[in-house]
Amino acid sequence: APVEVTGLSKLEDGGIIRVEWRGQPVWVVRRSPEMLEALPEHDDRLRDPKSEEPQQPEYATNEYRSIKKEIFVAVGICTHLGCSPQYLPEEMGDHVNGVQAGFFCPCHGSTYDIAGRVFEGVPAPLNLVVPPHYYVDDNTILVG
Ligand code: FES
Repeated sequence: APVEVTGLSKLEDGGIIRVEWRGQPVWVVRRSPEMLEALPEHDDRLRDPKSEEPQQPEYATNEYRSIKKEIFVAVGICTHLGCSPQYLPEEMGDHVNGVQAGFFCPCHGSTYDIAGRVFEGVPAPLNLVVPPHYYVDDNTILVG
């Protein structure tokens, strides 16, 4: 069944809401203007920067991989072997030098940027999956 995510209007920049959909974690992240500005800067270090690989909803095949650029919705499961990556809102540090925010999978070290785009040179083959979803209103998303 679809899962409703509410409280978007109260979500602060960098904040995350975690829900479960079909037994999988789904994340809803509010990206700050700084996070959005940084997105194009590391395209050349990504495996599939434009999300051209199949199995993405049409609204995820853009730089932001989202319907509204400030809100990122993803299935929180690494595309390597299915661990759940950590959200690093401030600092990817040594995981990816010079990239501020993203996701890090502790199982085998895969890294994704704040649009869930996988970096080159890690085991994960694909960008994080964007689940089917739509906006009921500015405060609410329905996933599924
Ligand atoms: Fe994430 Fe292997 S499961 S890197």
